[in-house]
Amino acid sequence: MLKVNFENSTINEEERRVFAEQLKSAHEQLHNGTGEGADFLGWLNLRIQDDELNQIKVAANKIKEISDVLIVIGIGGSYLGARAVIDALSKNFGDKKVLFAGNNLSADYLNDLIDYIDDKRVCLNVISKSGTTIEPAISFKILREYMEKKYGEDEAKERIFVTTDKERGVLKEIANQKGYETFVVPDDIGGRYSVFTAVGLLPIAAAGIDIDKLLAGVYAAEERFASLENNPCYEYAVVRNALYKQGKKIELLVNYEPRLHYISEWWKQLYGESEGKDLKGIFPASVDYTTDLHSMGQYVQDGERHLFETVLDVQAPNRDIVLEADENAIDKLGYLNGKTMNEANHSAMQGTVIAHMNGNVPNLLLQIDKLDEENIGELLYFFEKACGISGYILGVNPFNQPGVEAYKKEMFRLLGK
Ligand code: PA5
Repeated sequence: MLKVNFENSTINEEERRVFAEQLKSAHEQLHNGTGEGADFLGWLNLRIQDDELNQIKVAANKIKEISDVLIVIGIGGSYLGARAVIDALSKNFGDKKVLFAGNNLSADYLNDLIDYIDDKRVCLNVISKSGTTIEPAISFKILREYMEKKYGEDEAKERIFVTTDKERGVLKEIANQKGYETFVVPDDIGGRYSVFTAVGLLPIAAAGIDIDKLLAGVYAAEERFASLENNPCYEYAVVRNALYKQGKKIELLVNYEPRLHYISEWWKQLYGESEGKDLKGIFPASVDYTTDLHSMGQYVQDGERHLFETVLDVQAPNRDIVLEADENAIDKLGYLNGKTMNEANHSAMQGTVIAHMNGNVPNLLLQIDKLDEENIGELLYFFEKACGISGYILGVNPFNQPGVEAYKKEMFRLLGK
């Protein structure tokens, strides 16, 4: 179960109480659907119906059976959740069942991917709510043509799965025309809140992860983080707003497990798109420690003091390693004798918290006991709900993203669309 510890946040009770009225109002806006963006609250009390869950599991099993590789084609909210959960719950160097495309416009990336899958059995899951986003549209065009050439139209049809709006958009039209199996992105859930819909669940299940357990974690979190009082999720929202008000404009999400890298990427989209508007918002950034202590660590310790850190602490690894002293102490690591790598990792974490606190970087701690489906479900829901509340406290609509249209307008002009 997720535990929070804000003792090192530098924000005291009194400073939190200043937000009591705003928090109450944010809670009411979210739960009564009276705030801005209320058409996009489908994630708040999500329940995936049995028939949909069954369709996802049947398709995932089929994908596992007929392919070596599933290529998920999507960008932003249409791929980051799946990638985050799959990475967090898979071995670091396991055979990669799920690969990603359509999240860039690089010709080299797509060509290299096509080379890589040449001798492999392939399925595609193209995901786009709008059905018109250019990155996945181009990758899907190329990969669809590749699949039709490799398998012929009839077999390709069995290997292509489409997740999109229930009735609108070019992708839906293509799926109808070609006869692909389709999954629905609900109208009332925006991309960055969609990981626990078919958008995330199909690739996650195809990667061999237990989606029943993942959803159990989400549903338990919905209950645990439902009330206004004693809600750790709300405490996080308040503390980060209090820090922002004191000039801490950058939040670094910190992990000490390489498997959490994409949780940070997902989190950056969630908070960046939800809060970065109307010339406001904490800039969400991330670091992978201890790796980045040897690069960004210098700035965090001594650079401009506009940062705070939120540390994800996974208390136990799946498998630890005990360090034994070398007989001749040739490596000078005798002081580690009998200790585990996890102890070393946690000493690094605790030492870093102390050093950064001394350097005026407030630290927020989010702890889970281990990386499993329930904990990841709970953690991601925690972040989603805290984000909605935090956005309302900040006074923005946390569920739109008008700013992402600007580059598209210029790009389409240059491309002569
Ligand atoms: O959060 C969002 O809405 C965006 O990041 C979208 O997920 C992203 O732009 C992809 O959009 P679409 O699913 O329509 O292709």
